[in-house]
Amino acid sequence: MTAFGVDPIRYTSYGMPRYPEYRPRRLRRTAALRNLVRETVLAPSQLVLPLFVRSGSGVRTAVSSMPGVFQTSVDELLIDARAAAAVGVGGVLLFGIPDHKDAEGSGAWDDEGPVQRAVRALKTELPQLVVITDVCMCEYTDHGHCGILRNGEVDNDATLDLLVRESLSHARAGADVVAPSDMMDGRVGVIRDALDDAGFENTSILSYAAKFASAFYGPFREAAESTPQSGDRRGYQMDVANTNEALREALQDIEEGADMIMVKPAGPFLDIVSRVKTETGYPLAAYQVSGEFAMIHAAAERGWIDLERAMMESLIGIRRAGADVVITYFAREAAALLLSSYSPPQAVPR
Ligand code: PBG
Repeated sequence: MTAFGVDPIRYTSYGMPRYPEYRPRRLRRTAALRNLVRETVLAPSQLVLPLFVRSGSGVRTAVSSMPGVFQTSVDELLIDARAAAAVGVGGVLLFGIPDHKDAEGSGAWDDEGPVQRAVRALKTELPQLVVITDVCMCEYTDHGHCGILRNGEVDNDATLDLLVRESLSHARAGADVVAPSDMMDGRVGVIRDALDDAGFENTSILSYAAKFASAFYGPFREAAESTPQSGDRRGYQMDVANTNEALREALQDIEEGADMIMVKPAGPFLDIVSRVKTETGYPLAAYQVSGEFAMIHAAAERGWIDLERAMMESLIGIRRAGADVVITYFAREAAALLLSSYSPPQAVPR
């Protein structure tokens, strides 16, 4: 016996019983027992579906590297959003593909642009769905970088004004949340100030706080037509090796007025999700990006893994690490599966 009255041979140092007293398998024997003690829950309302919108009508163009993902016009987008809302998906995240691109990405703040028109349509037709807009220049610039170029480099401070214009245009359209994904320093603060000055004090900011310069964005760049024409994004997105820096980015964005913060990608960065959540306690989103989605699909297509199981395991893992909100191209399928596996309480015979 130790000073704490615990037998050190039969019990671990913190008083946990050892085998054979403790048999973890006892609580795994039936589905009912497993459900009872399950620690992490995934609900459709926690899922956000990214959607790609362009001009026109009746447009539905498949993204070859992302099965089930399309570029659509606003009318078609409403069909997809309605289907997502019908299975309880919590929100949508909009990306726009403009008709014309230029050096400063002026299409981004066109009040008649595809994103702005989609926001207005969604807020009229499906007011219960949270509408988040991605705020970035890369879809709108002819060079594909996330801001204005000067001497071959993205000019941080000159880009801030463009992001403000884009955010205000999204807010005017009625976006619930604007989500800057550009990784310029100081953008959350200037966007918050501008929104407040224009009377949009209730428009939320979800900042892509820790966005890494990842190899897993490849398929997205086909979907959003936003591949940089030269160079890469390492000059503004984070080095994938850094964790202290991710925390500083998150804290800085919170200080500047972010209501929610994001870690992206999700799967290869679950340690960052966990650390940012435990150290900030802020509402946290994690983005399961296009490459993560494409990999699961590609392996399933070859019969190497089971699509549904891998999808659900990847999503519950992101929640377990500490994300409150999961942004995923699987949102609709996962929500439908969650609904079909949920059995409502039955009348109990007496
Ligand atoms: C735009 C943006 C990107 C993604 C979201 N917003 C691409 C990038 O930074 O190149 C990636 C999303 C995905 O891969 O699913 N700045």
